Amino acid sequence: MREEQGKLPSFTQETSPPRRGQSSRRLRIVLTVVLSLVAFQYLPLSSVLSSTSGSVQVPLRAPEWLAKCELLNAKPGPPPDFNTRTQSDRFALGTKPTLITNATIWTGGVDGLEVLKGDILLDRGIIKRVGVIDRHTLAGYIDLVRIDAKGQWVSPGIVDLHSHIGADSLPELNGSDDTNSYKGPVLPWLRVLDGLNTRDEAYKLSISGGITTALVLPGSANAIGGQGALIKLRPTADRSPTGMLLESPYERNGSVYDPRAYFRYRQMKHACGENPDGVYSMTRMDTAWSFRQAYEHARKIKESQDDFCSKATRGDWGGLGDFPEDLQWEALVDVLRGRVKVQTHCYETVDLDDLVRITNEFKFPIAAFHHAHETYLVPGTLKSAYGHPPAVALFATQARYKREAFRGSEFAPRILAENDLQVVMKSDHPVLNSRFLVYEAQQAHYYGLPHNLALASVTSTPAKVMGMEHRIGYVKEGYDADLVLWDSHPLALGATPQQVWIDGIAQIDTPYLLSKPAAFQKRPETPNFDKEKDETLKYDGLPPLEPKPSRSRTVVFTNVKTVYRRDEQRIRETFTAVSDDVLSAGVVVVHDGQVQCVGSATSACASSVLPSEDVEHIDLEGGSITPGLVSAGSALGLSEIDQEESTQDGYVADALSEGVPSLAGGPGALIRAADGLIFGTRDALLAYRSGVTAGIVAPQTRGFLAGLNTAFSTGASHRLEDGALLQEAGAVHVAIHRVGSPSVSTQIAALRRLLLGETTGDVKVWFDKIKAGEAPLVIGAASADIIASIVALKAEAEAKLKTSLKFTIVGGAEAHILAKELGAANVGVILAPARPFPNSWEERRILPGPPLSEKSAVATLLDHNVTVGLGIASEGWDARNACFDVAWAALDANGEISKTDALALASVNLEKLLGIKTDNLEGDLVATSGGDLLEFSKVVGVISPRRGVVDII
Ligand SMILES: *[C@@H]1O[C@H](CO)[C@@H](O)[C@H](O)[C@H]1NC(C)=O
Ligand SMILES: *[C@@H]1O[C@H](CO)[C@@H](O)[C@H](O)[C@H]1NC(C)=O
Ligand SMILES: *[C@@H]1O[C@H](CO)[C@@H](O)[C@H](O)[C@H]1NC(C)=O
Ligand SMILES: *[C@@H]1O[C@H](CO)[C@@H](O)[C@H](O)[C@H]1NC(C)=O
Repeated sequence: MREEQGKLPSFTQETSPPRRGQSSRRLRIVLTVVLSLVAFQYLPLSSVLSSTSGSVQVPLRAPEWLAKCELLNAKPGPPPDFNTRTQSDRFALGTKPTLITNATIWTGGVDGLEVLKGDILLDRGIIKRVGVIDRHTLAGYIDLVRIDAKGQWVSPGIVDLHSHIGADSLPELNGSDDTNSYKGPVLPWLRVLDGLNTRDEAYKLSISGGITTALVLPGSANAIGGQGALIKLRPTADRSPTGMLLESPYERNGSVYDPRAYFRYRQMKHACGENPDGVYSMTRMDTAWSFRQAYEHARKIKESQDDFCSKATRGDWGGLGDFPEDLQWEALVDVLRGRVKVQTHCYETVDLDDLVRITNEFKFPIAAFHHAHETYLVPGTLKSAYGHPPAVALFATQARYKREAFRGSEFAPRILAENDLQVVMKSDHPVLNSRFLVYEAQQAHYYGLPHNLALASVTSTPAKVMGMEHRIGYVKEGYDADLVLWDSHPLALGATPQQVWIDGIAQIDTPYLLSKPAAFQKRPETPNFDKEKDETLKYDGLPPLEPKPSRSRTVVFTNVKTVYRRDEQRIRETFTAVSDDVLSAGVVVVHDGQVQCVGSATSACASSVLPSEDVEHIDLEGGSITPGLVSAGSALGLSEIDQEESTQDGYVADALSEGVPSLAGGPGALIRAADGLIFGTRDALLAYRSGVTAGIVAPQTRGFLAGLNTAFSTGASHRLEDGALLQEAGAVHVAIHRVGSPSVSTQIAALRRLLLGETTGDVKVWFDKIKAGEAPLVIGAASADIIASIVALKAEAEAKLKTSLKFTIVGGAEAHILAKELGAANVGVILAPARPFPNSWEERRILPGPPLSEKSAVATLLDHNVTVGLGIASEGWDARNACFDVAWAALDANGEISKTDALALASVNLEKLLGIKTDNLEGDLVATSGGDLLEFSKVVGVISPRRGVVDII
């Protein structure tokens, strides 16, 4: 605690942090100066203006300017008595004091290693006591709200260093997009606060994930995009954007100097690389010049102010003119004065190097590089930045969506921490749903970021980086009463808040609680990725990912705890070790990629392997063998870099608007995804190495008719390889949305005609199969109204055709509203994304799941016997996370979904819903060590009967 106090930014003109005595002395000096200036203002003019020739006239505005000069280099920070405050400036009248008892408290102190068992007292918006609280203290409270934490974890409120919440509001509408101004590459005068929407649907969702504070930044269209707004997420009594500000940097009341108003840090967005380059048709050279030109302008103003003030304070007013300042540039001048935290979106080595050079040329520090996918490759560059090395704000596994993210690595947080750089995990909400920011920290920890730094990366580290460590980011006496009570260790997958407090106010009216297995109360064990991390550095961020077949044709997996196998369209647990000892552990013998037998270490299976045989042994350390998972919903298999057209199959011509070219078959054509497959993409190979051994993909469309899907192996290197193409075509995909095609009703009309009217060519061939109930029709849809029209059309067509049809909905954000009807109509749903997000108007009526609703969407649909699959909605980078999505769905269902049913959600169910038959050949099996695929285990091998090999990962 002492350490942190020493680092408090204070009201001072020195660059190094002063001791507390010093800062109050400074304050006294400033007060004296100001009071004398105020007196000076009222002196009769005649006595000030000398009439004798040769003497200098003192301008009328001299007092105001001298006050400015006095504060010219004052650093932002709280008032000196801030940490003895008894009430928060954000205290909401009427908030009752709260006592949380029997908590396991991660305080953030002692480098994030301090854990206390005890109680926490919240009063008047601040944390009053932590740990053992004596009766004497409590005796003073009559209306104490008591919460029994039952030994569970409490952390500081989660702090998001990079969000667009309230600027890029949900649901996305043209009328509420205040993310980017396109008025020029340099706009330091813009303020996010001026566009902050207090009605964003995301506030309550993000709070339910534990987020209490967010830095809302302008988008990255501009080199200098403007000033961020640092907000608490809770709604305030005044319902205003201003009320949400954590500390207003704008309260200094114009030019009137009020010594009680302290400077607050402002936050300035910078961006380099592809975004500003693309928006303004610039090159990197142009963008770098934009920065230099802007900073040169600010530097000149700053210098002339310094000149002015050194003369004015000497009383040397002759020919001085007015105090030099410019409202458009004052924020950038303040950057040069160290009063603004510069938050820089910057990815690549070349851009990082440019920015670091600019900081040294103009002498200002960068608070953090954001996204920053190549920072782990150039720690030395960061360390040579002006002032101090920038912190690095990252995604955990989101990468490769654009060229400058291509070398992004899941090991970046760990490598940066090993280089003593500060690591922050951030959401870039709504790019990632900030409700799940802690999931980013969980993944960073899984891939090797130490637990204390992983928790700090979403609490105390961002608090420090934004200059707010004097009040948020820790559970400490005197800090803001922003806390999260979790249902498990916060780094355990799926950790969900039971309650969230902001300024001492409980944010969730009726929290729906999950009961997690006891093991989830402990910090999760994570695998060893040392080898992968070293390879990542060795290959400059692009380590080879291709699977390597085993040395021997026979591979024996030992120390196996469970074996799951496919059984028709289900997953079954076919072997379970009766106890944890080695003898009862399983042995799985595989020859040429075929499982020969499974048994305990003392079974006939185990002794069937002769000692003389050329055998490769793999110890799974209590791990398991599980059917490989399947990815569906993204362009995985048809695209390598989402924002680079030349790396993709491209988009089909939409039959409902421009029409399929006649040379390609015209109205009778069905485009086949199999013809456009791209193998060996890094997203596909990473998915393979994470247990996702197959992908199902449909042609990419922005309109109505996509074409025929295909199923492929994520580990194969080209289409002609054995087992690369799992099924050439399985189903026709269409999409019905409110944008991109003629009206929704026109799209339904088209579907009706395809089902009941005359068709030709491949369209006829496939719609005949659909009409015979032999192949599913896959329909992308989100809105409950559209889904309802689809269900009605199905009934209409079934009545006319006298058959039963197979329909599958993909997307399904609002499908839970029709769970009963979908179950009755036998319509399956692939939820993509797996956890709901009200991104657009047609997706806004989500079922959020615990703690905001009792049931999740998955559980609700399953309750009504709907066949459910889990897909991904974003780019292919997310395919690798299927195991986490599945595990999460099971946890969110509060024990209602078994492990085998959970595994089915991202394997056999997807295949069934997308017309892929896997019954003739057993699919790939995945061997994990240290746990099963749904735990924080590690994939060590893939058994592929189709390809006749075991791949060693
Ligand atoms: C705290 O909670 C744990 C878990 O419920 C319980 O075992 C323990 O007895 C509780 N301690 C106190 C002091 O209430
Ligand atoms: C919404 O914005 C997009 C992009 O600026 C524009 O193309 C579209 O016409 C707008 N729609 C409406 C209804 O204003
Ligand atoms: C700003 O300063 C003016 C002039 O001193 C004063 O009248 C006004 O009350 C101040 N406003 C705030 C919000 O402090
Ligand atoms: C779901 O299926 C089970 C087993 O067939 C049946 O008992 C149950 O009534 C069905 N539930 C609904 C809501 O249809």
